[in-house]
Amino acid sequence: MCGIVGYIGNQQAQPILLDGLKRLEYRGYDSAGIAVLRDGKISVRKCAGRIDQLRKLTDEKPLGGTVGIGHTRWATHGEPTDLNAHPHTDVKGDIAIVHNGIIENHVALRRHLEGQGCVFISQTDTEVAAHLIHTLYRGDMMAALRETIRTLSGSYALAVLNENEPDVLYCVRLGSPLVVGIGQGEMFLASDIPAILPHTRDVLILEDREIAVLRRDGVRVFDDLGNEKTPAPLHVSWDAAAAEKGGFAHFMLKEIYEQPEAVAKTLSAYVGADGFQPMLPGAPDRVEFIACGTAYHAGMAGAEYFAHLAGTESTAHIASEYRYRILFPRENQVVVAISQSGETADTLAALRKAREMGAHTAALTNTLGSTLDRTVEKSLLTYAGPEIAVASTKAYITQVETLLLMAMDLGLRNGSLTSDRVQALLSGLRELPEKMEAILQNRDFLQQYCDRHLHERLMFFIGRGMDYSLAMEAALKLKEISYLPCEAYAAGELKHGAIALISDDTPVIAICTQEALLEKTLSNLRETKARGAETICVCPQRFAQQASREADIVWPVPDADEMLLPLLVMLPMQLLAYSMAVAQGRDVDKPRNLAKSVTVE
Ligand code: F6R
Repeated sequence: MCGIVGYIGNQQAQPILLDGLKRLEYRGYDSAGIAVLRDGKISVRKCAGRIDQLRKLTDEKPLGGTVGIGHTRWATHGEPTDLNAHPHTDVKGDIAIVHNGIIENHVALRRHLEGQGCVFISQTDTEVAAHLIHTLYRGDMMAALRETIRTLSGSYALAVLNENEPDVLYCVRLGSPLVVGIGQGEMFLASDIPAILPHTRDVLILEDREIAVLRRDGVRVFDDLGNEKTPAPLHVSWDAAAAEKGGFAHFMLKEIYEQPEAVAKTLSAYVGADGFQPMLPGAPDRVEFIACGTAYHAGMAGAEYFAHLAGTESTAHIASEYRYRILFPRENQVVVAISQSGETADTLAALRKAREMGAHTAALTNTLGSTLDRTVEKSLLTYAGPEIAVASTKAYITQVETLLLMAMDLGLRNGSLTSDRVQALLSGLRELPEKMEAILQNRDFLQQYCDRHLHERLMFFIGRGMDYSLAMEAALKLKEISYLPCEAYAAGELKHGAIALISDDTPVIAICTQEALLEKTLSNLRETKARGAETICVCPQRFAQQASREADIVWPVPDADEMLLPLLVMLPMQLLAYSMAVAQGRDVDKPRNLAKSVTVE
């Protein structure tokens, strides 16, 4: 989705803005631009395409000045063209803005502003906001922005330059994230923390309907009635290097290799010498997970953990469905929203619905200070560090791990688990990073497999129970970055229709981590082999011999407790997706049509 950066200080703004935009590239975009204010004059450079194209423009015609804003646009209203790229200006060009989000009443506003003589040159909803602010400005920018908040509906994060106030950078948010980075004699602005990490780790997270006024020597924050607020800055523990590739060909590969460390960090954040840190409060008799995409798959695994380890009824819901579903509230229930970014629009809307029906709410997010983190009764973090690749890997693994810990904690408290069982699981978890390293050290066989299977028509992932959730995640990883059509199926469901798709050019991968279901899943695999499929089984070493009787190929992972195996078998699946995408020459970190953080419905 779109990204915003801003700068006010004593350095040249252009290189800082371009560098910030580069760091936001991972969010997905199709055009980019910057505006810089110098000697009371705003100048804009913008174009469709990548930051490198924008750089060419600014190399040819550099923008001098120490105050500026920048944007990467992911088209929603109007095609990705030079004209539709941000920043947008008003008729006279004395106000320039960049915008994330969607202005829902833009059609009516556009008509109204055209009636007042405004001439529109783009198809965007954003240009409406530029003209609106200009018409509302009568020498008092704060008043104009307060009125803008009252007029616009939808979601937005806006950064605004005004030629009449050359030493100020204004911004305002509603439903779209914005953070202010606090420097020495300079201030930074961004929609996402990684963009400002090289400059500062002290940030102010803006709340909805807040207006921030950035000057070189500080930032002041006001509510929409003009009352000044004194929000406390947060210190971010991530450093800039954590958001860089560090010698890996892609962020995704780096993030896959960071998983052993992320698992160890998450474990030590929640389990100390004297037991569990507080996790889910109380003893709910129903736990519901709401999430999208990969986070939903983590929720499916979480539901299995809560049933197995805490004896608690638990279901995972796709957030975009949950928000429109008829719900049957129960008194003692908790709804847990899972989201790496903590800003996914559907997840936040589903959470609002859960709250309205009176459920207790909790969050599992990787992003401290995100909207999700700040709006629930109990927020739990994953300690994956910044995840830059669009395809989620380490965030997913740490989500699954934290859900396992939550279920263990509840199981111990409600008597479903003995402390011996919990101790055995914890020592298994402590051994996990080493086992993960072992898997990561040996990935050549996947490369060979991908080279041979580059042109498959369709691929299947199957599993039962917990393994079905893993199959769903494995298939999503493969399709989103390699674009190879693939299906995830509950193994027993194949023969009810989809088996018609199986032939000798549809490899089938079975994920088998649970002993009780092993024979069943293998027999489903056998059925696909009988129809010509090449069959693969991903399982712990101890099942390998049995699996090799049915599968053409076995990809074993080190043995571990059944409850811990999901954290191991997903690694070869992530590597398979990665290798396949590389072999296909795909843009691994920025797959087509996708954005890292989906802040629109
Ligand atoms: C896939 C992926 C997406 C996200 C989904 C939710 O690799 O990353 O499916 O999981 O868009 O995003 P968050 O977790 O930020 O709510």
